[in-house]
Amino acid sequence: MRFDVFTLFPEVFYPYLDASILKRAQEEGYLDVGLHNIRDWALDKHHVTDDLPYGGGGGMVMKPEPIFRAVEEVVGRPPRCPVVLMTPQGERLTQDKAASLSEYPHLALLAGHYEGVDERVRQHLVTHEISIGDYVLTGGELPALVLIDALTRLIAGVLGDPRAAEKDSHAMGLLEHPHYTRPAEFRGWQVPEVLRSGHHARIARWRREQALRRTWKRRPELLQDADLSPEDEAFLASLREEGDGDA
Ligand code: ADE
Repeated sequence: MRFDVFTLFPEVFYPYLDASILKRAQEEGYLDVGLHNIRDWALDKHHVTDDLPYGGGGGMVMKPEPIFRAVEEVVGRPPRCPVVLMTPQGERLTQDKAASLSEYPHLALLAGHYEGVDERVRQHLVTHEISIGDYVLTGGELPALVLIDALTRLIAGVLGDPRAAEKDSHAMGLLEHPHYTRPAEFRGWQVPEVLRSGHHARIARWRREQALRRTWKRRPELLQDADLSPEDEAFLASLREEGDGDA
């Protein structure tokens, strides 16, 4: 998958892209990221990319010309791929949305800054608008990295275990079960016996019930869309009856 990122601050991307799984994904050819400084496409000699808002009020607005010139030079006019604006006004990023965006082999990501981008960029260049949550950051750089990360780990082959992404929290419509590793006892706290039993069916059922319990406690609204078996429904009914606690 290829991302072309348009930003005023390409330097913030390097450290994250140069570590861990994203680094390996690039080395192994699964991921390719082009970082483009919008300032390089500014028309004036001072490379100005923002200006005062028409109508007054505070803050600065990113000018349209450098953004159009940058995106069109790199991904074509009209663009050959979707152009995604990172903005708190966009559609909220969910695991389902990440899965549907990961179907595209190539995305252009536009990281806004200041008060935002000139509306004509949204109207005539941008094809998708994505928010990573209902809070406002100083710019779209972290959201663009979040999107790159969420999509890259869905590319087949990127995660060591080919089924790892399928079992994630949210991928199944539920929060994930708890995890334990060695030692079996730490400060007197034991790893649940079932996980050490070697009994695969019991372990699978325990994990499923833990996932159901956690989702019911923490994010009950997710249960409405989850794919539940009659056994799951019975377990949830028993939780509701017990009014059960610690998840
Ligand atoms: N830019 C600033 N805040 C943002 C958010 N929550 N999501 C996406 N882009 C943003």
